[in-house]
Amino acid sequence: MSQQILIVGKHGKTGRRVNSLLQANGYQTKAVSRSTEPAFDWLKPENWREAMRGCNQAYVCYQPDLAVPQAELAINAFLTVAKQEGIQHIVLLSGRGEDGAQQAEQQVINSGLTWNIVRASWFAQNFSEGFMIDGILNGEIALPASDIPEPFIDVDDIAEVAYACITSPKLNNQLIEITGPHLLTFKDCVEIISEEIKKPIHHTAITVKEFLSSLQQQNMPEEMLWLMNELFSVVMDGRNSQVTHGVETLLGRPATSFREYARKTAASGAWSKQQQS
Ligand SMILES: NC(=O)c1ccc[n+]([C@@H]2O[C@H](COP(=O)([O-])OP(=O)(O)OC[C@H]3O[C@@H](n4cnc5c(N)ncnc54)[C@H](OP(=O)(O)O)[C@@H]3O)[C@@H](O)[C@H]2O)c1
Repeated sequence: MSQQILIVGKHGKTGRRVNSLLQANGYQTKAVSRSTEPAFDWLKPENWREAMRGCNQAYVCYQPDLAVPQAELAINAFLTVAKQEGIQHIVLLSGRGEDGAQQAEQQVINSGLTWNIVRASWFAQNFSEGFMIDGILNGEIALPASDIPEPFIDVDDIAEVAYACITSPKLNNQLIEITGPHLLTFKDCVEIISEEIKKPIHHTAITVKEFLSSLQQQNMPEEMLWLMNELFSVVMDGRNSQVTHGVETLLGRPATSFREYARKTAASGAWSKQQQS
């Protein structure tokens, strides 16, 4: 029986990077999402077994977010099938300060399998691969007013931490809380990106209600609107405004700063309109 590593979230921000790191280092992976064959859809548990077959470890990135009310049940059901299919170690990507995420984490911790929880702060890549990219490309971004700073983390760092958890059994059964090295507001981030792309980006502070209504006009699904409200109205109250040293402790080097993230992302062309079209 081959011993593949299941990657749930093949095309996602972290899944893609974790998969590349494993493959580059000679590990066999089975990376899945709704668009792969076999497919993996969090809404179709009847198909999970086939996706898991032949795997002994799993990197799990839940969609859309562990904060949503149905996540705990889905993770519980996932663990049941995983155990039946011979998966022995789970690395769960989680978020900070979210009740729903912590309930899902407990399911993994109490599963009887070996585990790691990689509990990460807001991704810097939300500005380049997520819901804020359009605003950056258009030079005009409207976000809920907030002076609450967040230690945005570079997803490349998350992938390296997840890779270490998958490949180093000595790290088993640890919850690793990881953040970027500095606390920044959204306005600070937009200013740094603007400096790195050498173009003005106009930042407007709006209410959460106005923000949600603009996302609704862009046809964001109801579940994502619920999530955005939860993140901006509940989670972003200062509870996550501390830096941790998880990246440095685990990888033996400092976490990537938002400036470094912005510099390399600008150099990659990800914020150039030509590259997007
Ligand atoms: N964003 C953050 O700042 C942040 C911070 C901390 C933790 N997290 C955690 O990261 C995870 C989400 O990350 P993300 O928002 O950045 O997304 P992402 O990892 O970039 O994943 C997006 C991909 O998920 C796949 N997908 C969408 N719906 C799916 C479904 N029903 N079943 C299976 N695959 C599906 C899609 O690929 P296909 O179309 O190919 O299926 C899509 O390309 C959540 O678990 C969240 O708790 C996020």
